[in-house]
Parts: sequence; structure tokens; C-alpha cells
Amino acid sequence: MLSDKMLAALNDQLNAEYYSSYLYLAMSGHCEAAGFLGMAHWLRKQSEEELGHAMKFYRFILDRGGRIELKGIEAPPGHWKSPLALFEDVVSHERKITDRIWKLVELSGAEKDPATRVFLHWFVEEQVEEEAQASTIVQKLRLIGDSVNGLLLIDRELGARS
Ligand code: FEO
Repeated sequence: MLSDKMLAALNDQLNAEYYSSYLYLAMSGHCEAAGFLGMAHWLRKQSEEELGHAMKFYRFILDRGGRIELKGIEAPPGHWKSPLALFEDVVSHERKITDRIWKLVELSGAEKDPATRVFLHWFVEEQVEEEAQASTIVQKLRLIGDSVNGLLLIDRELGARS
């Protein structure tokens, strides 16, 4: 059985994962409208992945006998001044998510809940990968600067995400 505190924090994270999905969908729409179809594809895949994360929390809460509490999803921004600014926002968003996951791990220790701690391990590893992927894109975009050819190349590369 989940403690009340743990249950509330897991339901909050379920909401945060939905917000992540919403944010990346907004970013995808922005990129597609701006003609960066590869970036739009990458971000749509990311948005779908976040729905998968949300469902992992949903399943876990129910499996532990908790009640799902769905909350309203905050509206994400809809405009970014450049691909670089957009992907910098991806990195800073993923860092915030990492911080949230680490706090959940801390709470699972304080609540003496090893099942939740083990469940969260997958997310701890996932966040390392997500931050690394987004940071690599930011690094490349910084190198590219204002080069249209460079932007088209990275757009094609991101469009190959399976
Ligand atoms: Fe669900 Fe991108 O972290």
C-alpha cells in the first residue's frame, strides 16, 4: 500500500509526464509550421514517449492499490524564437523532470517504500538518456549557428528517429 504522501507525489508525477507530452506536442507543432519537419517528427516521437511514461505511473499507482487522481494539464508555450531556443527549453525541462524523479526517490526512502524506489530506477536511467540526447542536439545547434545548410542537415537527422 502506498502512503498518502507517496500516492500524492506519484499522481503529481503522472500529471508532469502528461505536461511533458503536451509541451513536446506544442514544440512539434511549432517546428512543423516553421518548416522543420524532421524536428517536428523527433518532438512528436518524444511526446508519444512521455505518454508512455505517464502510463507507467498510472499502472504502478493502480497495481499498488492507489487511486488515480487526474488533474488539469497546464498549457505549454506555443512559440520559440529559434530551434536552438526550443531545444534549450527541452534540456531545461528534462533537468526539471530529473530533479522531480530524484525527489521521488528520496521520498520513497523516507516513506520506507522499496517497491516504489525500485520502480523509479527505470526513470532515473531514462532521465540520463533524455538529458544526454537533448544536450547533444543543443550542442550541434550551437555549432551550426545561423547556417541554413546546417539547420537542414540536423533537421534531416532528427527526422530519422524511429
Ligand atoms: Fe518523462 Fe522526458 O521525461
